[in-house]
Amino acid sequence: MKKVEAIIRPENFQALRDKLEGVGINGLTVSEVAGCGQQKGQQGLFRGNAFEIKLLPKVKVEMVVEAEHIDEIVQIIQSTCSTNTIGDGKIFILPVENAIRIRTGEDGVQAIV
Ligand SMILES: Nc1ncnc2c1ncn2[C@@H]1O[C@H](COP(=O)(O)OP(=O)(O)OP(=O)(O)O)[C@@H](O)[C@H]1O
Ligand SMILES: [Mg+2]
Repeated sequence: MKKVEAIIRPENFQALRDKLEGVGINGLTVSEVAGCGQQKGQQGLFRGNAFEIKLLPKVKVEMVVEAEHIDEIVQIIQSTCSTNTIGDGKIFILPVENAIRIRTGEDGVQAIV
């Protein structure tokens, strides 16, 4: 199992959710976050003062999925969330040791499908 953490533009979330649902991915966690990338949260304007670093609103989508689905999910995120401009976001992929469905005690892949 792998965890996908995608930091995306808030306005791209609904389209991503619809696409993921279309391929049977229903379990996800979403948070409103703030962050910055290599532009330090500034979009084109440069201001040299380190204390003026800005944070831009983003949405973080977390999903634990079967490892074999990673390529498809990355492809869906890229095609749905790319506007080809700075600030489109990032995808992180992490190993997941286990998952447990609290209600039943099922674990591993059984707990995420
Ligand atoms: N190295 C990182 N670690 C954790 N979060 C990050 C990292 N880089 C970016 N992020 C998160 O992703 C969001 C979007 O980053 P962004 O798309 O601006 O990345 P970038 O590397 O600057 O790429 P681009 O040049 O396309 O803007 C940030 O607001 C932040 O929340
Ligand atoms: Mg950036």
